[in-house]
Amino acid sequence: MENKERVIVLDFGGQYNQLIARRVRECNVYCEILPYTVSLDKIKELNPTGIIFTGGPNSVYDESSPHIAKEIFELNIPILGICYGCQLMAYTLGGVVTAATDNSSCEYGKTMTNYNKNDVIFANVPEHGISWMSHRDYISTVPDGFSITATTAVCPVAAMSCPERKLYGVQFHPEVNHTENGKDMLRSFLYDVCGCKGEWQMDSFIDSTVAKLKEQIGDKGVVLGLSGGVDSSVAAALLSKAVGKQLTCVFVDQGLMRKDEGDFVEQTFTKLFDMNFVRINCQEEFLSKLKGVSEPEAKRKIIGTEFYNVFWNKIRESYGSGYFAQGTIYPDRIESGKGDAAKIKTHHNQVEVPQDITFEGIIEPLQDLFKDEVRVVGEKLGLPHELVWRQPFPGPGLGVRVIGEVTAEKVKILQEADAILREEMDKCGYASQMSQFFAVLPGVKTVGVMGDSRTYDELVAIRAVTTDDFMTADWAKIPYDILGRVSSRIINEVEHVNRVVYDITSKPPGTVEWE
Ligand code: XMP
Repeated sequence: MENKERVIVLDFGGQYNQLIARRVRECNVYCEILPYTVSLDKIKELNPTGIIFTGGPNSVYDESSPHIAKEIFELNIPILGICYGCQLMAYTLGGVVTAATDNSSCEYGKTMTNYNKNDVIFANVPEHGISWMSHRDYISTVPDGFSITATTAVCPVAAMSCPERKLYGVQFHPEVNHTENGKDMLRSFLYDVCGCKGEWQMDSFIDSTVAKLKEQIGDKGVVLGLSGGVDSSVAAALLSKAVGKQLTCVFVDQGLMRKDEGDFVEQTFTKLFDMNFVRINCQEEFLSKLKGVSEPEAKRKIIGTEFYNVFWNKIRESYGSGYFAQGTIYPDRIESGKGDAAKIKTHHNQVEVPQDITFEGIIEPLQDLFKDEVRVVGEKLGLPHELVWRQPFPGPGLGVRVIGEVTAEKVKILQEADAILREEMDKCGYASQMSQFFAVLPGVKTVGVMGDSRTYDELVAIRAVTTDDFMTADWAKIPYDILGRVSSRIINEVEHVNRVVYDITSKPPGTVEWE
């Protein structure tokens, strides 16, 4: 499906930018996030159906604040400005943005808001409702030709519009769930202002992508590195539907996956899908490289390097021609309006093809999709539920959950403890409420007593978090009786464990993984 309907989200550095794009997609409209620095020529070339300006942390009066050429408002493309985007629209078009001098004009959080139902954005929502605010400066005078379409007790302009020019602005965040009916407001902008029809549907995405892949690949081969994670699995399923046995999936099992996970991946792809599946079991090689290494970054580096050594050697040996496919998804390639966030730890997801391997080209069939959309595609393609809804799992696997030096014995203890945790969490229905949970082997031995004897054995830690985006996370308040059951089963059933603790650290200051 060619995306005739396309909305551009111009990123001014706000924290909810991806959320805006996801909400637009949820309204079945294709959209892309572009940095605010994108040229007007590029925008004209893309010919979007509408443009949304995101929020951002700045004041329009800051020296370094992001601005936009006035000509964008002359393109006759509908624009919706959100928060900073709304202030920028007002400021650029000659309205007045008043800089906050004290806290009296600030609004943060849930705010009762009055909407003018004659305005197209608010035509389908009640006259009063809660909106989510996060601003200091405020618009005190709207530009010529605009009218005020929403107010709060504090904010004289909670929304404004100039229907003749199809320009709209909201001071609050309609993309955030706390804004009652926020999605309806976005939908009104997309459908009733931009004239979108809702062409972005996952079924048609699958059909058109399969057709495109068939045409592109022709009778050549395709090789894909399958990790068992959601993205590469869905890419594999899609490619299998397109070219069947022309696809070879190479699955490097470094022996650092969860209990029975390697077998599950193998069975899924050999039984349910038409493809060549190659599994390389190489736990021993990995463990020998990790021998004596306990520093987390050094371990990550070794596991990452060794993974690609094994993978590319296999490709050189057998499949170094045709196409190379990978499960890159949209958030992996968004160029943001913000600077680089400080690097906390190395995540090794980006694949670089070695120079001596020359493929016909790289294929990334999921490159336009958000994670939720990838999951929908996976389900439609018949991947098992547990794979599609799999929790995130770090590339270095249990290598970063066995703290310190990694040995086969420690991996085995951790796999057993983790399997019990997963079983109990599934049984009580808590699993689906957690964003991520797992066991960690801190490599600490403590004294205990079992029967009448002294023990001196391993400590297992349980980690469970809830989060929207993994940038921040709360430790999960799992009921004590569940924790109690998990603890007693682990101590009774896993040899060499005599104590279980629960990690009650949020992120920040902790990270989700321990290494
Ligand atoms: P941290 O520990 O950085 O984790 O708070 C945030 C999320 O990222 C996952 N994680 C990784 N994912 N490769 C990945 O694909 C990695 O190397 C990696 N390290 C951490 C982690 O499980 C959590 O979901």
